[in-house]
Amino acid sequence: MIVTIDGVAASGKSSVSSGVAQALGVPYVSSGLLYRAVTLLGLNAGADLADPSALLPLLSPVRLEPLASGNRVWNADHDLSADLHSTRVDGGVSTVAALPEIREWVDAQLRALPAPLVAEGRDMGTNVFPHAPHKFYLTASPRVRAERRARERPEDIPAIEAALTERDRQDTTQSAPAPDARIIDTGPLTLQGVIDTILNDLR
Ligand code: CDP
Repeated sequence: MIVTIDGVAASGKSSVSSGVAQALGVPYVSSGLLYRAVTLLGLNAGADLADPSALLPLLSPVRLEPLASGNRVWNADHDLSADLHSTRVDGGVSTVAALPEIREWVDAQLRALPAPLVAEGRDMGTNVFPHAPHKFYLTASPRVRAERRARERPEDIPAIEAALTERDRQDTTQSAPAPDARIIDTGPLTLQGVIDTILNDLR
């Protein structure tokens, strides 16, 4: 069984996916972490983030470890996870995610994982796992999302809202909901409320 949970930036996908996966007793996979890892390695190497030939050679040691409690990304034996949610990575990740060569690399990592799993991102239900039997798509207004993310970033809410809106714009191509996804507006719901909505649907 594969459950896909897609949605716009800071819609709560990771926390919701982790909660659903823990309730089901299966791992969850954050595809965004792989795009973030490519971005971080590119930035650290001083590479042009729009040039796939500069990025692909950096990726052979990169490995995603899916865990229900929170995924980790390794570069050989170095755990990158704690450095993947900086404003610097936020600012470059959509450039990297627009590259078809990088998308192919991420998709191959994900499709190699054994089911059952919960897969989270932008295009899990449309592109990576189009035959998944259970698909969800999370939304919320930009202000609500910025207020949530302000708890994880040092910037103020208007700056975060502007950056999220810009990232939504850059991510438009890969962010359309699957036609068979259930769309959930998370604005009026608590985290547990969103998790329960999905679990009730799965039952
Ligand atoms: O948590 P948040 O929604 O802010 O970001 P994320 O899920 O970690 O994704 C980071 C970035 O990776 C997105 O802004 C997209 O550019 C890209 N991404 C993508 O293109 N396709 C996916 N399946 C997942 C992420």
